[in-house]
Amino acid sequence: MRAIRYELGSDQILTLTIDMPGQSANTMNMAFREALNETVNKVQGDLENIRGIIITSAKKTFFAGGDLKELHKVTRDDAEAFEGMVNGLKAQMRALETCGKPVVAAINGTALGGGFEIALACHHRIVLDNNSIQLGLPEVTLGLLPGGGGTQRLPRMIGLEAAFPLLMEGKKLRPSAALKAGIIDELAVSPEDMIAKARAFIDANPKCQQPWDKKGFKLPGGAPHHPAMAQKLAIAPAMLKQKTKGCYPAPERIMAAAVEGAQVGFDNGSLIETRYFAELVIGQVAKNMTGTFWFQLNDINAGGSRPEGVEKESFKKVGVLGAGMMGAGIAYSTANRGIEVVLKDISLESAEKGKSYSENLLAKQVSRGRMTEEEKVQILGRIKASDSAADLEGCDLVIEAVFEDSELKAKVTAEAEPKLVNNGIFASNTSTIPITQLAEASAKPENFIGLHFFSPVDKMMLVEIIVGEKTSDETLARAFDYVQQIGKIPVVVNDSRGFFTSRVFGTFVNEGISMLGEGIHPSSIENAGLLAGMPVGPLSISDEVSMTLMQHIRSQSKKDMEAAGGTWKPHPAEAIIDQMVNDHGRKGKAAGAGFYEYPAKGKKYLWPELETLYVDSEEARKAKLRELKDRILFIQAIETVRCLEEGVLRTVEDANIGSIFGIGYAPWTGGAIQFINQYGVRAFAERARELTAAHGERFAPPALLLEHAEQDKPFI
Ligand code: NAI
Repeated sequence: MRAIRYELGSDQILTLTIDMPGQSANTMNMAFREALNETVNKVQGDLENIRGIIITSAKKTFFAGGDLKELHKVTRDDAEAFEGMVNGLKAQMRALETCGKPVVAAINGTALGGGFEIALACHHRIVLDNNSIQLGLPEVTLGLLPGGGGTQRLPRMIGLEAAFPLLMEGKKLRPSAALKAGIIDELAVSPEDMIAKARAFIDANPKCQQPWDKKGFKLPGGAPHHPAMAQKLAIAPAMLKQKTKGCYPAPERIMAAAVEGAQVGFDNGSLIETRYFAELVIGQVAKNMTGTFWFQLNDINAGGSRPEGVEKESFKKVGVLGAGMMGAGIAYSTANRGIEVVLKDISLESAEKGKSYSENLLAKQVSRGRMTEEEKVQILGRIKASDSAADLEGCDLVIEAVFEDSELKAKVTAEAEPKLVNNGIFASNTSTIPITQLAEASAKPENFIGLHFFSPVDKMMLVEIIVGEKTSDETLARAFDYVQQIGKIPVVVNDSRGFFTSRVFGTFVNEGISMLGEGIHPSSIENAGLLAGMPVGPLSISDEVSMTLMQHIRSQSKKDMEAAGGTWKPHPAEAIIDQMVNDHGRKGKAAGAGFYEYPAKGKKYLWPELETLYVDSEEARKAKLRELKDRILFIQAIETVRCLEEGVLRTVEDANIGSIFGIGYAPWTGGAIQFINQYGVRAFAERARELTAAHGERFAPPALLLEHAEQDKPFI
């Protein structure tokens, strides 16, 4: 079977149907390039007999985009050949675009990245009006740029300003939004309607040229040298840098390609784009991001850490105990995906209050036009607020999110378990108590598991699944199915205090706080966090979590460690936390005072007294940004290796994805383990030794790291 079907009708309309053999979706790989080459040659031979061309797809989607497997392998040595290959492919698209006959994209399904770039190279784009279709150029989210002409055609179509967010944030649009944005031309109600509209366009436009190929073409919204645009472009790179903190080369190169390209003719612009594209493709950040956000995430989503041999389960009724902040969020996320929910609290009033959280979130979506009133009513109708355990009868799964108290959790476990269906699962959303310990209250510890959600539940994509000592593989597999059913990302970890995410997160905040104790300026600490790529600074996030909670977790961990015969090694951050809470009454954001001041009106700002209390001008002056950034990224990566070494983490995929989606570990790194791999494992261990000498044993490379460092062997 050919990758592109060539059907020239008696009406002289040529239909090119992309249908790549042996693939569920069309991608821009070698087979496609060859087929396109052949097709374009044939078109040129047949041109006299062709009135117009319709490009469509035989797959469910229109075209999936570049072949990431191929891109991921390109190295610096291949750069020149890669550029040649890209320019060759673009020349074929350009040949169709300039053939003089109308070329219409009949977009029957999702068209992203390279797929949407094919559509952009056509003279007219018609899309099936189906809300499951997505259109856009999301390359930037993988550290890449649209290298198939996207950075050149989109600004020429809708102007630089309108194109920037689509190119630099990788926004995906539904058909109606795409029409509004001016990146497609028409919607069609059915495939037949789409083809009829394509034919009508061809009939009405026997000769076709892109606007940018016409004499006197002016860039919509103004060319870069236009005074109004020049003013905006003068500050645009600074604004971008403020967002990327210099960690992400892709949006910077996209802006450069678009703006530089807009100052020359299309073909030269296209060459500029290819150069930047090649630079990104061979660069480390794209490798990190593609590796983790594409390959590793796909592995996880395909069930990579789900035990095999257990039939996939579809959950129908889920009980949620505790309608507080977490319970309310879990109920929302579950009902939103079509599952019946019983939301139980100690009083009907509290349960209703938890349900109103969903009502507010849904109402917001209705007001933004993302949901209809009926859909809202339907979702809300799935949540039954209750104060009675009897309502839990027939649940496939019960998740408890009551106060963090072992005795209370034991009580609600005993109360709810008998109501579960035969073989039902009981899950705890505890953030700190070991699952094995909580499972002691269960009559069926093999059906007991941890489902650790993150706050706010409706926004946070990750769920950390915690496997207790007695949790069965079957329970794990089914819990995995539930997490996927509600559209979240499951990572699987073994039981240990703090599990994986909380443990690593603790090292981040403690490192930042100990810097303050050393006399480093709090602004430098916060900036180092942000410049390392963390979404928030360590002091800021400490306030969010609250320092009293940190004290509480510490005293519990200390008690447990001593009970097990161990000795607690105090962290330098502890003294600062105790001073903040005990001496200054500054517990964190919820209490209205922490490392930051929280004025009733206006933005929070660092508590000025921190400077008097802690900053040592000599230390502050000596502090090097690189050292502070390294400390922040290294301490978390080292703790992650410890989790792998201790078997808390089961896979590198879970480590990378869990660190980014759970803790916000700098996404440019591709995750806490990929940070080590890309740094060079041996070099990382050496740097860890330097940090140990300068800052203490907590940076000491664990045995597993040394083992890898000896052979300079990446973690896979
Ligand atoms: P919360 O204090 O907002 O809510 C707890 C709810 O449980 C309250 O509404 C309370 O009335 C209810 N409750 C108490 N006894 C009950 C009973 N016998 N039956 C039914 N409901 C009862 O607490 P939050 O923050 O929602 O935390 C809940 C659990 O989730 C805790 O174990 C916490 O450690 C864990 N967690 C919290 C996270 C957070 O960011 N707050 C993150 C991940 C886990």
